[in-house]
Amino acid sequence: MKVAIFSAKPYDRQFLTQANETQRHELVFFETRLNETTAPLASGFAAVCVFVNDQLDEPVLRALAAGGTRAVALRCAGFNNVDLAAARTLEIDVVRVPAYSPHAVAEHTLALMLTLNRQMHRAYNRVREGNFALDGLLGFDLHGRTVAVVGTGKIGFEVAKIMLGLGCKVLAHDLHPHPDGERIGLRYAAIDELLANADVVTLHCPLTPQTRHLIDAGALRQMKPGVMIINTSRGALVDTAAVIEGLKSGHVGYLGLDVYEEEADLFFEDQSNRVLQDDVFARLLTFPNVVITGHQAFFTRNALEAIAQTTLSNLSELAEHGRCVNQVQG
Ligand code: NAI
Repeated sequence: MKVAIFSAKPYDRQFLTQANETQRHELVFFETRLNETTAPLASGFAAVCVFVNDQLDEPVLRALAAGGTRAVALRCAGFNNVDLAAARTLEIDVVRVPAYSPHAVAEHTLALMLTLNRQMHRAYNRVREGNFALDGLLGFDLHGRTVAVVGTGKIGFEVAKIMLGLGCKVLAHDLHPHPDGERIGLRYAAIDELLANADVVTLHCPLTPQTRHLIDAGALRQMKPGVMIINTSRGALVDTAAVIEGLKSGHVGYLGLDVYEEEADLFFEDQSNRVLQDDVFARLLTFPNVVITGHQAFFTRNALEAIAQTTLSNLSELAEHGRCVNQVQG
């Protein structure tokens, strides 16, 4: 298939080109994000390959269809950026990579927890400046603490196993509890019970109309003072303005984010020479007890190999059979 690859970074080029050695697609890489302005670049391409912040709303899908595009291949798991109803009407197939390395995201989640708890981000700078004082670096044992895992799919389940391995109690909430949940030692409970009892709340459910701002001012009020909140799922699960108020009052003790509500205009680019225009994000950066990474939880060699392989196999399957096991149904 002739494939227009949007938001292409050097690492996308490297891993997709490598994976294509065993496939026969014609890959053309575009650095720009896909949106209404850039959609004409895909004219004449049977497929577009996109990432988390590419825009696939109705006008963009309509433009793609007009240019002859019949398939959208997401090189990620989440598909909240695609108007699936419009895609169905326009007869555009949408395929994704449902699982590539849940371990990559689960391990990054742990990295955020430990960084925040043991103040690694501050300790690193202190030692480099010859400041060996320990004041302000006091942490707590994760062992014995209660961790709430919201969403126990592929990633959340791995996080639960890691936390159980550290000796934490794990409370979980999911619309569809994992069949092996009890066997590994986690306990499912209602979301209110999770929020009220957790020392750490970590989010691993998808962004849907039901989960948008799952962590808002009301949810924060239910949480223990000093709670740690981790979000490696999708930014809009958290009402950032409400969490900032929680951080200012001290009610939220720690915040670890790999995703941010308004990340589309920030992440994946070097913005270090520009004046930051997002005042909410700028405020987040002022807290010593906030650690933010720029949507890098997935970013391991293993995950990129798997993403590239599955993305191209998805397109081969569509080309050969007109359907694909990893198709997203609208
Ligand atoms: P998954 O589909 O395996 O699991 C999601 C789980 O959430 C399912 O068990 C589902 O039943 C549950 N769920 C759905 N609605 C819920 C609700 N209202 N309350 C509680 N649970 C609910 O997905 P997976 O692979 O574990 O990924 C989870 C999320 O992680 C993705 O949706 C994606 O947004 C995010 N992600 C982030 C990455 C990063 O680099 N930061 C990389 C990959 C995924």
